Amino acid sequence: MKILVTGAAGMIGRKFCEALVKRRNIGSRSVVRLTMADAIKPAALVGAPFDVSTLSADISDPGIAESFVADRPEIIYHLAAVVSGEAEADFDKGYRVNLTGTHRLFEAVRQAGYQPRIVFASSIAVFGTPFPETIREDYAFAPLTSYGTQKAIGELLLADFSRRDFFDGIGIRFPTICVRPGKPNKAASGFFSNIIREPLKGEPAVLPVSEDVRHWFASPRAAVDFLFHAGALDLGQLGSRRTLNMPGLSATVGEMIASLKDVAGADCAKLIRRQPDPAIQKMVDGWPRRLDASRAETLGFHAEKSFEEIVHHHIEDESAG
Ligand SMILES: NC(=O)c1ccc[n+]([C@@H]2O[C@H](COP(=O)([O-])OP(=O)(O)OC[C@H]3O[C@@H](n4cnc5c(N)ncnc54)[C@H](O)[C@@H]3O)[C@@H](O)[C@H]2O)c1
Repeated sequence: MKILVTGAAGMIGRKFCEALVKRRNIGSRSVVRLTMADAIKPAALVGAPFDVSTLSADISDPGIAESFVADRPEIIYHLAAVVSGEAEADFDKGYRVNLTGTHRLFEAVRQAGYQPRIVFASSIAVFGTPFPETIREDYAFAPLTSYGTQKAIGELLLADFSRRDFFDGIGIRFPTICVRPGKPNKAASGFFSNIIREPLKGEPAVLPVSEDVRHWFASPRAAVDFLFHAGALDLGQLGSRRTLNMPGLSATVGEMIASLKDVAGADCAKLIRRQPDPAIQKMVDGWPRRLDASRAETLGFHAEKSFEEIVHHHIEDESAG
């Protein structure tokens, strides 16, 4: 089976490609070829038991999406995107990559005239206030950011192109993925990861919001598992509602810090410096606190059940690096 991953140089894309090298299969089908596509050149994959090619080009440029799907991959993981903070800061870039890029990819598949599976990375940013305590999957789209709007349009395109049998699509609304490894990115939610990752490295981190802020999380490990499961699932079970709220856990910042203390000791948590930022506080006050992911769970998607587990998974997965 041939696989295309867009955004393959990104955090989730890279981890997914590395996991493919280890697992070799998606469901019962073995991978024979992987195309890693991204605006920046993805680093080489070591030890892949299948063919790997890398493409570095902007998916929103004319003709590029067509080149990404030229060898007719059976599963396309569409992860390429400009993340929330950057899409808000650069209106034109956000719409170009997240909307035009997604539409061009879907259109390239339609023009190629075959029916692959497309797994589309969406976000809980499609929802907006006023929030119920738990957000059901069918809660109204009311994005509060350009990024959320672009993902909501992507979900609609995915559903319509699937309805027209141009491809078989599944959208997965990731929780905020935490703990994000490496350097901070431009996502507005970056501090959630910083306050765990940096102290674990013995480095200080800034907490710009109050400890009662509550949000919805899953680990990078869970995100990779969602992608494998979405690639293998019988999509006949989805009906016309093609996008699922992914499982996660609801935790306050205070609970996250308590988990850090439990796992790594109180001194580690002392590296978190409180530096309230009213602009960030206002933004996160408008974010979802808990989602109903029961349909995804019934379909076999799973995530961590405690924040301690997320911290442990981060340490296990990143200690080698
Ligand atoms: N990480 C999260 O918490 C989270 C939450 C919800 C949704 N998502 C979605 O999951 C996907 C992956 O997220 P991530 O955290 O790995 O993001 P990331 O920023 O680490 O990776 C995104 C990748 O897309 C690439 N890209 C950007 N513009 C491009 C273009 N024009 N053409 C080709 N490639 C381009 C980037 O170079 C980058 O490597 C994204 O679609 C994101 O919106 C992530």
